[in-house]
Amino acid sequence: MTSPVSPAPIIRKLDDLRALTKTWKAKGETIGIVPTMGALHDGHLSLARVARAATDRVIVTIFINPKQFNNPDDLKNYPRTEHEDARKLSSIGVDAIYVPDGTQMYPDGFSTTVSLDALTDVLCGAHRPGHFDGVATVVAKLLLQTSADQAFFGEKDYQQLLIVQRMALDLDICATIVGCPTIREIDGLALSSRNLLLSDRARVKAPALSEVMQQITKGLAAGETMKTLTPAALTRLDNAGFGDVDYLELRAASDLSLLETPTEPARLFAAVWLAGVRLIDNIAI
Ligand code: PAJ
Repeated sequence: MTSPVSPAPIIRKLDDLRALTKTWKAKGETIGIVPTMGALHDGHLSLARVARAATDRVIVTIFINPKQFNNPDDLKNYPRTEHEDARKLSSIGVDAIYVPDGTQMYPDGFSTTVSLDALTDVLCGAHRPGHFDGVATVVAKLLLQTSADQAFFGEKDYQQLLIVQRMALDLDICATIVGCPTIREIDGLALSSRNLLLSDRARVKAPALSEVMQQITKGLAAGETMKTLTPAALTRLDNAGFGDVDYLELRAASDLSLLETPTEPARLFAAVWLAGVRLIDNIAI
């Protein structure tokens, strides 16, 4: 177990954040940020560790962004564990935890939305209308508010990673957007804050998702196509106790175009429901 380094200050006001980053910039220090919605797990902490090694100062942001929730119940049920989050971050030695409230982020009269024409109409974009507008808007604000030189995102949300990279490029935001590998439980389940919402019974079933995805990977490697592999995969998920499958698709890693076989660097993407919880995962092919 890692011993605590020091508790990071929690900053709630944008003015305080700006005052702090100004002193860092004046000394020529670089700033890395890890945007999160809290309920931190080892996936988030791995991003903070990469940031710690890459930049002089590290800010972890915690903001449950209402604009990216298309379902009010999902927003209401999203786990909130600020005290525990701060404790976990103390073992890494981040320099600040930025926890703005809704009015800091979206004051009265707020009227700007960052919306992308590409990458957003497939996968989670097709199933969660407005979700990626909310993500792009809040991430653009966080990059600007923190004066970040680098920002660290998980490949767990691969579509989000591509969208944020495109958005930063298009808006001439100077931060480098860095993608980091997905951290998994020993049984293969990708870590996610939403895993906290799984009942014990559902949690036992959850690893079947990554197992099914691994089987498709093997089939593709053996020359089979998504068309032939998908029916058996859906049956296995059904037998394992999963509900609706929002998508199970092979797409190009560069632009998310749909593929039947991995004719270029590709990723297999899945979003499935298990006992009322939506699990997403993707793996490189
Ligand atoms: P959140 O779901 O809290 O995730 C914060 C960051 O942690 C994202 O970059 C996500 O990809 C990464 N992450 C989540 N699970 C991971 C895992 N198992 N391994 C590695 N990284 C993982 O994604 C969001 O919040 C929000 O959309 C946000 C970007 C903060 C904008 O509101």
